[in-house]
Amino acid sequence: MLSKKLEKVLNKQIEKEGYAAQLYLAMASWSEAQGYEGISNWFYEQHKEEVEHMLKFIKYMNERGSHATVPKIDQPPKDFAGVKKVFEASLEHEQMVTRSINEIVGISLEEKDFTTHNWIQWFVDEQLEEESSVQNILDKLNLIGDGNLYMFDRDIMSMRAEGEE
Ligand code: FEO
Repeated sequence: MLSKKLEKVLNKQIEKEGYAAQLYLAMASWSEAQGYEGISNWFYEQHKEEVEHMLKFIKYMNERGSHATVPKIDQPPKDFAGVKKVFEASLEHEQMVTRSINEIVGISLEEKDFTTHNWIQWFVDEQLEEESSVQNILDKLNLIGDGNLYMFDRDIMSMRAEGEE
């Protein structure tokens, strides 16, 4: 059985993953509306991954004899101030999620819930991958500077980390 404290943070994490899914969907829609097909595909894929993350938390809680709460999710921003800004916002968001996952790791140890501690390690690895994937994109954007984004938009899907579908 999950402790009340873990139940609370895991439910909160469902909401955070759900918000990430909505945020990436908004970013995909914005990019598509701007004519960046590659970038929008990249964000649509991110959206799908975040939905998967949310489901993993729901299923894990239920598997542990709890009952996950399906949350109300805030509306993400509609507009972004440019391609670089959209990826900066994405990195900031992932850094926040990493802090949140680390907090769950800490609480699972405090509560001596080694099953959760073991299970959450997948997310620890995933966060490392997600942050580095967005950081790589930002590095490329910094190299391009104010240059033409056409090639970047064409090539971005090949920048997805190995194993990401
Ligand atoms: Fe599910 Fe990108 O954090």
